Amino acid sequence: MANPMVILVTGANQGLGYYASEILAKSGNYIILIGSRDLNKGQEAAQKILQEPGNPSSTKVEAVQIDLSSDESIHLAAKYVGERYGRLDILVNNAGYYDFREGTDGGPSWRQIFHEQLDTNLIGQEIVTQEFLPLLHKSTEGARSPRIVFTTSTLGSLTMASDGDGNPVKLQHKLYRTSKSALNMLAVTYANQL
Ligand SMILES: NC(=O)c1ccc[n+]([C@@H]2O[C@H](COP(=O)([O-])OP(=O)(O)OC[C@H]3O[C@@H](n4cnc5c(N)ncnc54)[C@H](OP(=O)(O)O)[C@@H]3O)[C@@H](O)[C@H]2O)c1
Repeated sequence: MANPMVILVTGANQGLGYYASEILAKSGNYIILIGSRDLNKGQEAAQKILQEPGNPSSTKVEAVQIDLSSDESIHLAAKYVGERYGRLDILVNNAGYYDFREGTDGGPSWRQIFHEQLDTNLIGQEIVTQEFLPLLHKSTEGARSPRIVFTTSTLGSLTMASDGDGNPVKLQHKLYRTSKSALNMLAVTYANQL
């Protein structure tokens, strides 16, 4: 492809982000930036994807260090992408984790546990989006249509959680569910704003 789209997938060194990147690489239509908080893991993932059979020669994959819990890391990642590519066409806010804890178990305070879950699954995604917005706006030059994707979860659905079927699972996963419900609102807010 003459002018491939530049896509950043956060948390792409493993899991869903990795597999999405692997599939995108097969099209040859993208420059895929493997976001990873550990640059070595990101580089290993990028190499693995590049070595997959069946990738078109136009496929480009590279690792970018980005830690959602660090403003500095997010800022430097945006600076790097801006200097190297001048724009971002698609931002996939995928990085996140599932905190299974339902109590403190003598470890960190409940406040700290809750803060950590929201810091990655919600606040980090907001800071990443803010930092990359200027580069996404530059994507419209040349008739492209920039996209922001948020990887949410059915566990964040207010409708599904309150459908009254009595499933005891609905009493669990308070932390994760709350982070993903809030992320849904963040996504809708961006959709309305942009
Ligand atoms: N798996 C499911 O069934 C499912 C269902 C619905 C939604 N989701 C969502 O899909 C997304 C990916 O989940 P997954 O199942 O693929 O999980 P995963 O295999 O654990 O991958 C999560 C990725 O996020 C990264 N990450 C975590 N905290 C980070 C931080 N502070 N800064 C930067 N990167 C961070 C991880 O990096 P490290 O490798 O360094 O830990 C990893 O690359 C998450 O948002 C999750 O909530 C998953």
